[in-house]
Amino acid sequence: MSLNLKEKMENSLSKDVLKALEDCSTAAGDYGFKIYLIGGVVRDLILGKEIFDIDITVQGNATDFCHKMADKKICKILQVQNDLKTSKAIFQNKVEIDFASTRQEFYPRRGHLPVVVRIGCTLEEDVYRRDFTINSLALSLNERNFGEIIDYVGGVEDLKNKKLKVLHDNSFNEDPTRIIRGLKFAARFNLHRDEHTKELQNYYLQNSLHDDISWSRVKSELKQTFSLNNARVFDMFIANDVYKLIYGNKPDIKGLEIKALVDKYSPENVWLTYLGCSLNDKKIIENFCFTRQEKKIFDDKQYLLEHDLSIINSNYDIYKFFEKRSIESIIIFYLLTRRKEALIYLEKLSQIKVMVNGDELKELGITDGKEIGKMLDKILKKKLSGSLINKADEIEYVKSKTK
Ligand code: CTP
Repeated sequence: MSLNLKEKMENSLSKDVLKALEDCSTAAGDYGFKIYLIGGVVRDLILGKEIFDIDITVQGNATDFCHKMADKKICKILQVQNDLKTSKAIFQNKVEIDFASTRQEFYPRRGHLPVVVRIGCTLEEDVYRRDFTINSLALSLNERNFGEIIDYVGGVEDLKNKKLKVLHDNSFNEDPTRIIRGLKFAARFNLHRDEHTKELQNYYLQNSLHDDISWSRVKSELKQTFSLNNARVFDMFIANDVYKLIYGNKPDIKGLEIKALVDKYSPENVWLTYLGCSLNDKKIIENFCFTRQEKKIFDDKQYLLEHDLSIINSNYDIYKFFEKRSIESIIIFYLLTRRKEALIYLEKLSQIKVMVNGDELKELGITDGKEIGKMLDKILKKKLSGSLINKADEIEYVKSKTK
């Protein structure tokens, strides 16, 4: 029986989005195009999730279709990518829609962006280039059957049964980043891989060398996936051997432990806190072309792991050891070594700050720059040992030392 989501669309999409889709539908009828919602938007409509991006696939040439609508002032074109014949257009009340032409692709190099071999193929041919059955659903925007789901691959059934399934046996070989995408979708929608997909993934991870993979795409997928701050993602990353894709380690850490520390200490780079618990390979870290701030997390982690903690006897020592290190690296260090000093620092010591400043010390008679530095350090030591509490205590202490 065919599934029609017209009513669901009316409940889930804003009036402005619905109006834009209806305008597209009328224009497609007028100009002889067949158009469909495709991919994530259809999946999310079925699941009743919030919709962020609207993607339409045009059987034929999407750029031609958009130009025809723009000529009639139905939309304005924001961007055109001529080689792929894709366009982004804006409709009334700032509704933006991405239009793609149906296309067939092939992957010349594993894990790199695919190359288009034919634009304007059938919808069915377009669907078969995609990653998972749940992402391969189309929804007709054509007047004859507006709202009808077109499912060539059993995606509706898989969504219902919470199954994550690739479309063909070569899927991970063509694009290993799909292994990471699988984690993301499994976590977001609480899916489980079907047996065959599991076998294909395991086979790939045990047998394939993929130094030629596009690391920027791997990085981008890992960022999206670990930014979900989802404990199950990390557990699956380890239990399903996905860490092998980045030549990572298999640490004895549970996703929930990382999540608890991330929630408590709010590091800026949530995704790197997860990734850093496994990624250690210098070459891969280089391949990821991290920003300076991102790279610092890995440098800090290495520093912490390589330095001897046996010399640490006091709060002051702990403070100095962690002081300049990123929160992410301290969390990772704790999880890898279980050294409680890391938590003492995050929980307590990192909050302790000297309140007097250099100018105030000058007023109190310490004029030499070096001496000011030394005094600030002495105050810090006292504060960390608990003998100075507030600013007045600090000033009294300075006075006692400069008499
Ligand atoms: N796609 C694919 N293989 C990839 C990346 C994307 O087949 N490696 C296809 C999927 O059909 C996907 C669509 O391109 O649905 C759009 O990709 P993307 O925007 O990354 O994902 P969405 O499914 O829209 O999911 P999200 O909600 O995360 O944006």
